[in-house]
Amino acid sequence: MEAISIGLLGLGTVGTGVVKIIEDHQDKLMHQIGCPIKINKVLVKDLTKERAVKIAPEMLTTNAKDVIDNPEIDVIIEVMGGVDETRNYLLQALKNKKHVVTANKDLMALYGSELLSVAIENSCDLFYEASVAGGIPILRSLVDGLSSDHITKMMGIVNGTTNFILTKMTKQGSAYEEVLKEAQRLGYAETDPTSDVEGLDAARKMVILATLGFSMKIDLDDVRVQGITNISEEDLQYAKQLGYTMKLIGMAQIEDDKVEVSVQPTLLGETHPLAAVNNEYNAVYVYGEAVGETMFYGPGAGSLPTATSIVSDLVVVLKNLVLGVNGKSIISPQFEKRMKEPNE
Ligand code: NDP
Ligand code: HSE
Repeated sequence: MEAISIGLLGLGTVGTGVVKIIEDHQDKLMHQIGCPIKINKVLVKDLTKERAVKIAPEMLTTNAKDVIDNPEIDVIIEVMGGVDETRNYLLQALKNKKHVVTANKDLMALYGSELLSVAIENSCDLFYEASVAGGIPILRSLVDGLSSDHITKMMGIVNGTTNFILTKMTKQGSAYEEVLKEAQRLGYAETDPTSDVEGLDAARKMVILATLGFSMKIDLDDVRVQGITNISEEDLQYAKQLGYTMKLIGMAQIEDDKVEVSVQPTLLGETHPLAAVNNEYNAVYVYGEAVGETMFYGPGAGSLPTATSIVSDLVVVLKNLVLGVNGKSIISPQFEKRMKEPNE
C-alpha cells in the first residue's frame, strides 16, 4: 500500500517527538496500519532555526497553505499551539477533508465543539488525546473504557509544569523562578508559562475532561481558577513540617445535573496518593457510579510522552482510513445538557 502522507503544523518540543516516534517506531506502525507513514510538509515560524531532528530543508515551510491545502496530505498533526490562527487552519484543513490530530487544549477547550461538528460534516477524524495529561490515555479511557458508567467526579493533577515547580520547591527548597526556568528548558511549560502557573492550562484540561466525562457543554468562564503564583517557599516548607504537601488540584463533579469545575492549590496529607505524584507527572482519579474509584497516572508533559499520545491517535486515524470509517469513532460528546447556574 502507498505511504500515508502527513503534514505537521509545528516542530517544537512536541513536533520533534512526533517525528522521532514516527521514525523510530516505523516497523511497529507499519505492522499496525499496513503502510509506511511519510512526513510531507512541516509548518514552522523560523526556517533558519536549528532542529533537534533531521529534516530536509525543502520539507519546511512558513506558509500554512503548503500544509493545509496540500492535496498530497491526508492527515494534519497540529502541534504549534495558539488559538485564533490555529482554529482557522484546522477549520480549513477539515473542510479540505484532512483528518486532524491535535495536542492543543487551549483550542479544544474553547472551540472543540465547533471543530468536532465541522469534522463530522466532512467525515473526518479529529482526535486530541495529547491535549490532556500528555502521555496518559485518559480521554479514550473516559469515552471508551468507562463509557457504560455514569462518571460523577474527576480529580487530579493535570499540569506538569506546576507540579514540577511545587515538587522542586518542596523537596529541594528551590526558588520558584529558577524551577520555572528549568521547566521551560525541559519543554514542559507553554510558550507563555502564565497559563501554567496561573492555573488556566489546568482549567482548560478540566473543561475537556468534564465535557467528555459528563457529556455536557462546559464553559471555561464557569471554572473557578487559582494558580500557584501566590505560594511561597515558606508556605511549602511550613506545610511540609505539618505533614502536608501542596498540589495544584483540578476537580470536576456533577450532582443532580449541576456541574462544578475548579482548579486550586490544595494541601494533601503526605500519605494521599496524589501527594506522591512528583515532577512533571500527572494523575487523575475518575469516580464512576458502578466502577467506583479508578486512577490514571503517567507523564503529563514533555516531548516523547506527549508525542506517544499523538502518534497513537494517528494510528487510529489510519486504521479508520483503511476501514473507511473516518469521522464515525470521533471523541465527541453529546451536548444535550447544559451546565446549570449555581442558583438554578
Ligand atoms: P513549542 O513552542 O516548542 O513549538 C511550537 C512550534 O510551532 C514551533 O516549531 C514553532 O516554530 C511553530 N509555530 C508556532 N507558532 C507558529 C506560527 N504562527 N506559524 C508557524 N509556526 C508556528 O511548543 P510545544 O511543542 O511545547 O507545544 C505545542 C502544542 O502542544 C501546544 O498546543 C501545547 O499546549 C501542546 N502540548 C505541549 C506539551 C508539552 O509538554 N510541551 C504537552 C501537551 C500538549 P519555530 O520552531 O520555527 O519557532
Ligand atoms: N504546559 C503543559 C503542562 C504541557 O505543563 O502540563 C502539557 O499539557
